[in-house]
Amino acid sequence: MQLEDIDLSKLASFGGDMPDHWFTFLREEAPVWFHPPVDDCPELGGEGFWVFSKYDDIRSANRDSRTFSAETGPGRTGGGIMLRDVDQALGSNMIMTDPPKQQRMRQLVNIGFSPRAVRRLEHYTRALTRERIDGFLARGECELVSELAAEVPLQVIAEILGVPASDREKVFTWTNKALDDSDDDDRMNAYIQMYAYASELGQEKKDRPTDDIFSRVVAAEIPDENGTPVRLNEFEIASFFQLIATGGSETTRNAITGGLLAFIDHPDQLERLRSDRALLPKATDEILRWTSPVNYFRRTATRDVVVRDQTIRAGDKVSLWHCSGNRDEDVFRDPFRFDITRSPNDHLAFGGGGAHYCLGANLAKMEIEIVYDEMLNRMTEFEVAGEIERFYTSWYLNVFGGYQRLPIRFRTLSD
Ligand code: HEM
Repeated sequence: MQLEDIDLSKLASFGGDMPDHWFTFLREEAPVWFHPPVDDCPELGGEGFWVFSKYDDIRSANRDSRTFSAETGPGRTGGGIMLRDVDQALGSNMIMTDPPKQQRMRQLVNIGFSPRAVRRLEHYTRALTRERIDGFLARGECELVSELAAEVPLQVIAEILGVPASDREKVFTWTNKALDDSDDDDRMNAYIQMYAYASELGQEKKDRPTDDIFSRVVAAEIPDENGTPVRLNEFEIASFFQLIATGGSETTRNAITGGLLAFIDHPDQLERLRSDRALLPKATDEILRWTSPVNYFRRTATRDVVVRDQTIRAGDKVSLWHCSGNRDEDVFRDPFRFDITRSPNDHLAFGGGGAHYCLGANLAKMEIEIVYDEMLNRMTEFEVAGEIERFYTSWYLNVFGGYQRLPIRFRTLSD
């Protein structure tokens, strides 16, 4: 195999299975590699980009926002976290902003995602999971993504954001369409509708605040660069809503779905977990390491910097491949083994630490633990029962990978 064989812009390379052979090669031969521009990929804007594939380099870059910006770099009109440049959303929400503004935005909502706040949602999440399983248990089969894996995170997010029950269906449709590549107009319309809805709901929460995070965000004042307290503007409010609604659902659904496929391939691990539920937290971390639902995030170099003898120039795009760092042989013993007792397991699924470390990490872990706990209480002998449909994101250039459909069959434990 040669470097020329590798093309990380190709959609079919992702969407569930990672091109592990490429990353293994890169980690060994070219851990900091300049991916050349790709002619038939207009989303890249004719530019190449750096690929970091080693755990330590990803972590260091994640922790150095001054050098590796999530907003933009010199000479660029717009960077952001995807390999394609975006202009509009830059600086409008925490994930596409650098400290100190990013920290100020994050402080507004931090408390809503603390371990304590997440514990308060456990009861709701468990009841919801049981109810969804009740809906298909007697059939002995289901389509896992739509009937459980997508549904639980979406409903929990809606609860956190204070979306009234009557509006949830349409918000879910928009979040799905926003990431769906099949129709460009549909995708744009979904964004427009979601932003309009978020502004309206935001106004309502300002007028009649309720006990949810969104009410808190619209009312809060954060100091600007001069220390003057200001509120988020209408666009920033809508952008926050969209970030939480999509970021909090797409990722967790792919961890749950990919996790079940891993268990189907490793039935001994499933039985181990069934007989010892104290392993749930460790198993969840292994599911996250194994599935790495956010393949990469991109940064832009703000200055010339040398990493592993390679000179990265100010303004260059730098991509940090969590999915590769999570298979790094120098950090994880036997990285291609799915091992629910793995310890330590300091994976990069939520990023490598630093300012942007996933805000929803505690929440996602809680959801995954509960979904598996409840499935194991009532279901056994899982098998794939139809065609698995992958999920690709060409607009996002492979940021997310995962599943659109996973039909499964199982035996209920009372059988
Ligand atoms: C399995 C589930 C999830 C995965 C794999 C995941 C992954 C990530 C990753 C890789 C980052 C970027 C870290 C960095 O660049 O350093 C991130 C940031 C973020 N995540 Fe998650 N996430 C998940 C679930 C959630 C949930 C449930 C929520 C919210 C409800 C959420 C909200 C966010 C937000 C707001 C940020 C940006 C934080 C910042 O910029 O300060 N995520 N996530």
